[in-house]
Parts: sequence; structure tokens; C-alpha cells
Amino acid sequence: MDPIEFIQQSACSIKNTMYKLKLKYNPFSEKPIRGNTKFFVGRVSELREIGEILGAAMHGSVANAAIVGTKGIGKSSMLNIIYYATKKQGHWVVELTASQITPRQFLIQLLYNILIENLISINGTIKSDYMEHSQRILEMYKRLNNYGDKVPIHYPRERIERDLEYLINDVKDEDKLCIILIDEADQFAKKSCLSLLQFFHSFLYEENILAFFAGSPTLMDDLTKISPPIKDRIPKIINMPPLSKDESYDLIRRRLEDAHIDGADTFEPFTEDAIDMIVEECDGIPRKIIMTCSESISIAIKKHLRKIDENIVKEALHHLGISVGHQILNHLTPAQSEIVKAMAKLGGAATVTQLAEYLNKSPSTIGTHLSDIYEMGYIYKERDKNNVYYKLSKELKDVLLGEDNELEL
Ligand SMILES: Nc1ncnc2c1ncn2[C@@H]1O[C@H](COP(=O)(O)OP(=O)(O)O)[C@@H](O)[C@H]1O
Ligand SMILES: [Mg+2]
Repeated sequence: MDPIEFIQQSACSIKNTMYKLKLKYNPFSEKPIRGNTKFFVGRVSELREIGEILGAAMHGSVANAAIVGTKGIGKSSMLNIIYYATKKQGHWVVELTASQITPRQFLIQLLYNILIENLISINGTIKSDYMEHSQRILEMYKRLNNYGDKVPIHYPRERIERDLEYLINDVKDEDKLCIILIDEADQFAKKSCLSLLQFFHSFLYEENILAFFAGSPTLMDDLTKISPPIKDRIPKIINMPPLSKDESYDLIRRRLEDAHIDGADTFEPFTEDAIDMIVEECDGIPRKIIMTCSESISIAIKKHLRKIDENIVKEALHHLGISVGHQILNHLTPAQSEIVKAMAKLGGAATVTQLAEYLNKSPSTIGTHLSDIYEMGYIYKERDKNNVYYKLSKELKDVLLGEDNELEL
């Protein structure tokens, strides 16, 4: 068979099976919501609070905010929405992910992003509003432009700070704010970031800079641990709870509607029971809902089905559980992974004493590891009379105790 035709035919057959499911495409892609907000559901009170923070900042009382919640709850999506909302109002906005952790690298990123997201247009020229400053801006831009090439640039930190100050105080319109959005801010809670946080302190006092930090539920505690005064600089905490049941249904419905071929019913190709199961099992976590729907559709395509029922959803949940479990295992240190595997051997739950005996280690060593794993949310604690049992999370159970588990224990 001609290999070129073969590829074409295979691609076509996917399209046909997609049509059998009454879908034009698989609408469950795992990406933060960006400018296109037609899939965004709920979050009314959080949006209102953000609006209020913004309003207050525009009138001289800046209160920086932390947006906190578990993985996949929608923090990055929320930051993206703030980005577009504030951009539309003409503020300067920069979006950064806290992976560049030395203060110098962070400053370089910040400066560069302020330039390219706000002052330079797509074709590389300076926006007309800032023409009078063109010489100095261009100079900075040139200096930073080879940043991406990893070419070491000569740009001392004092100089960067001075340039930043100049941009924000002299170039930016006084009525506008400079909004800094920092995703995955948990990186800042590392000891190695202390000097960055210290730098940030002075920065967060500025009247026309408003910062939003997105991170895990323990973000503020972790930041405070390495730098107590940070708490006063980030007085607002926006907690992202799970979506309600109705919002979860709404999320699925909207995505399906967008992908439906003419004449499809609301939740097709899912059966009612299948949808109920997804909403029930995913605990209102948007990423989990999306991934389960997406995986269910993939399975249905492979099996050439017309309908997705509970059994397919179960299969999808199981696959995902295992893949998340693998990710967790990869994330654990060898000592931690030895412990969770021992927990599996002991039936999925164990006390410190049992584990210490089983692994022939001191209870205090085991206890330290367990509390680290517990902090990361990969195991649970349960008290039974006088004993505290540590239990594997659902994901770790799936991968360590699952039926088709091929892992060497
Ligand atoms: N309010 C929402 N409505 C619809 N989809 C959402 C919502 N919040 C998040 N999502 C979706 O859930 C997934 C995870 O969101 P994301 O913002 O990446 O979470 P986080 O940054 O908290 O881990 C993304 O695919 C995103 O599109
Ligand atoms: Mg995120």
C-alpha cells in the first residue's frame, strides 16, 4: 500500500468516527482560557473581587492579590482574563511565569515583557504614544532582544532597576497602572528566592503597580515562611473553590455545543449517566473534567463507538488516574517513592510504625518523609482509635494497586 495514501486514509477515518460521535472535533483541549472566553463559566464572585481590586488601585489604593487554588482549578485562566481585561482598559500588563528565579533574570524578563507587551508594536516599532522616549526605549529593547538567544548581555542590575523605574514613572501615562501577573508563584517560596522577594517588597509599595500572584493553596504561608513581611504586601487572597455542579455541566455543554454537527442533542455523544458520572467524579475541577471528557472521546474513537456511556467514562478515569499516578511517582524522591510502594504492599494504608518495621528504617525518618508526601497532597491521614493511618491518594492507588498494574513493587 502507498504510505502517503495510507496516512491520508487513516486521517480520514478519524474524521468519520468523529462524525459518528456527532462532533466536528474533540472540543476538550487542555489549555488555559485565553482571549476567547466563550468557554469560561462561573467565577462571578472572584471576578467581582478582581474588579474591585482594580478599581481601588486606579484610585490610589493598591492592594496586591494572591489567586490560590489546587492544580487545574483555573488560576492561569483567571490571570489570562485579568490580562485581557486590563489591557482593554489601556493599562500596561505583563504576564510572567515564575520559573526564572534569580532576581536578575526575573528583572530582565519583567523589563523585556513590559517593552514587548506594551510599548513595541508587532512590527517592531515603538507605539506612537511613546515616541518622545523612543531613543532610550529602543536602546533597552536592543539590549534585551538577544536575551532569548542566551547570549550573556551586559546589563547590570542597577541599570535594569533604573530603566524599570524610568519606564513606570516617566514613560507610562499617570492614569494607567502597571499590572504584573505572576503565574506559578510557588517558585518564589523557595529559599533561593529570598533576595527576589526582598527586591519585590520595595516594588510592591509603588502606587501605580498592581501585582497578582497565582499559586497553590499554601502559597501565602510558604511565602511568609521565607519572608514574613510579604504578607502585608499581598493583602488580598482570592481563593478559587471548585466549580458547582451546575457550572460543571455548563462547562461540558458549552464545549460540546461548539463542536457539534447539526442536529446533535445537548450532551451527545455522552449519555446522561456518563455526564453525571463525570461531574460526580471530577469534584468541580475544570482540568479534571476536561481531561476525562477528552480521554472518553479518544477511547470512543478507538473503539468506533457512537455513544459514550458510563463504562467508557470509567475506563477514561482509570487511564487518567494511572497517568497522574505515574507523574506523581516521577515527582517523588527515591526515598519517598520507596515509602509509597511499601504502603501499597501493606494494602494502601499504614501507620508510621508499620512502615518503619517493613522498611527497616527509624520511625522518625519515615515520619519526615510521610509528612513531606502528605504536604504535597499525594497521601491522606486518617485516625483510627489511637493510630494514625496514612492512605494512598486515589491516583497513587490506581497506579500502584490497579488491575493492569505492571509496576515492579
Ligand atoms: N472558569 C472556567 N470555565 C471553563 N473552563 C475553565 C475555567 N477555569 C479553568 N478552565 C479550564 O480548566 C483547565 C485548567 O485551567 P488552568 O487555568 O490551567 O488551571 P491552573 O492554572 O489553576 O492549574 C484549562 O483547560 C482551562 O481552560
Ligand atoms: Mg496554571
